[in-house]
Amino acid sequence: MKKGFIATIGAFALSMTVIGSGFSAIAAEKEKDILNVAHRGASGHAPEHTLTSYKMGEKMHGDYIEVDLQMTKDGELIAMHDETLDRTTNGTGLVKDYTLKEIKDLDAGSWFNEKYPEKANPEYNGLKVPTLEEVFQTFGKNANYYIETKSPAVYPGMEEKLSELVDKYRINKDMLLVQSFSSESLLKMSKIDPSIKLVQLMWYTSPAAISDAEIQAIKQYAVGIGPNSGMIDKEYVQKTVQNGLEIHPYTVNEKEEMQKLIEWGVTGIFTNFPDLLHEVKKGR
Ligand code: G3P
Ligand code: CA
Repeated sequence: MKKGFIATIGAFALSMTVIGSGFSAIAAEKEKDILNVAHRGASGHAPEHTLTSYKMGEKMHGDYIEVDLQMTKDGELIAMHDETLDRTTNGTGLVKDYTLKEIKDLDAGSWFNEKYPEKANPEYNGLKVPTLEEVFQTFGKNANYYIETKSPAVYPGMEEKLSELVDKYRINKDMLLVQSFSSESLLKMSKIDPSIKLVQLMWYTSPAAISDAEIQAIKQYAVGIGPNSGMIDKEYVQKTVQNGLEIHPYTVNEKEEMQKLIEWGVTGIFTNFPDLLHEVKKGR
């Protein structure tokens, strides 16, 4: 189900007031609105960051297509998680050292078949690395995109290019989220286009708490946060939501963990298995 994003904030904050004493009917209803973010597409089923994986994510009830961005030597934005080509293509070396034409010659699917023979599909062999433009052309202006500026310090001008493409393809900004671990990158985005909604990613290496000061600082520029799921607890989630921020933990691939996070009150989840999250949401 596609939905507006901001609209969920107020409604969810309202439902949170009744969560404390157990799972109420209102909360149970609202949890069906938890955003199902197809992480790198349905990347548990198909090679990540290919159009095939993104299409599968949509079919499997993902609400958002998650796109990580890297930039080529000639300044084109492509969908890829790593700064290097080695893991997800048959190329080697840094993305920034190759032109788009060179990257387009690579095979971005065969690695998946070799790594996951039980999920292999001959159609994945030879899949291409998509550009952000191709993603926009394929899914259109009204799809829900959740786009991450990766390694922004390596790619000066990445935010400007992203904004240019959002405008060129008239992407519906109600359905667009831009995320980054880099607050500098997000602040740059908000300067370039204050109408784009932003999510601050967090990476914790030990069990985490979030302070009032952090929440207030993030609220100055972002509508939500995305922490790694294993280091947060119920208090972290509820404090975040009660203070008016969305919270979308990543990357959650197990049913029990999805259920736990939903009970804590998260407003979205990044998963490689949007089909599983869909079932979990339906089953509650
Ligand atoms: O963007 C949320 C999550 O994807 C962050 O981690 O490394 O998978 O991009 P990563
Ligand atoms: Ca990401």
